[in-house]
Amino acid sequence: MPEAQVMTATLEPAIQTVQAVRAAEAAEAVDAVDLSLLEPLLAMYPRQPDHVIPLLRTVQKHYGYIPAQMVGLIAAHLHVSRAKVLGVATFYPQFSLTPQGRHKVCVCRGTACHVRGGRQVLDTVRKQLGVKPGETTADHDFTLETVACVGACAVGPVMTVDGECYGKLDQSDALEALSHCRREMPAAR
Ligand code: FES
Repeated sequence: MPEAQVMTATLEPAIQTVQAVRAAEAAEAVDAVDLSLLEPLLAMYPRQPDHVIPLLRTVQKHYGYIPAQMVGLIAAHLHVSRAKVLGVATFYPQFSLTPQGRHKVCVCRGTACHVRGGRQVLDTVRKQLGVKPGETTADHDFTLETVACVGACAVGPVMTVDGECYGKLDQSDALEALSHCRREMPAAR
């Protein structure tokens, strides 16, 4: 591989981390975060480096994401670098540095779904929610994501809402699934 490509590939995770942190800081410029819960959450964990993942999991559960302004406090508590906490928070998909919607909608972009109309389903959901994949609605009700394959190709096009799988969707089915979610389902965290 040419040297320039190797360097780009090596730097990619760091670039993604910086982008994630900037997005998180931008989001927090809009939404003030209540830090009052953090102290008791920190107190649940010994001040040791091997508790990064469990502590992040707890913060994610309570706040719905990892607020960027907590990263330094978590790092100081566990005696690790801020970069270490950020690295873990950006590596595992279970963690997010930006506020997530109460409901998570994930539309499959895989080939099997695509050839059966998955693109139209995604366009319909995008228009209905008014956000692009990776974004959260202004009311924080929904976060829209896409995935390469849900593993239910036989019933494509597929999307999941809070982990529940909806298959053989057309555009009106997708809209009904969102309406059902607003009406019936408890918020996921
Ligand atoms: S391609 Fe959509 S579930 Fe597999």
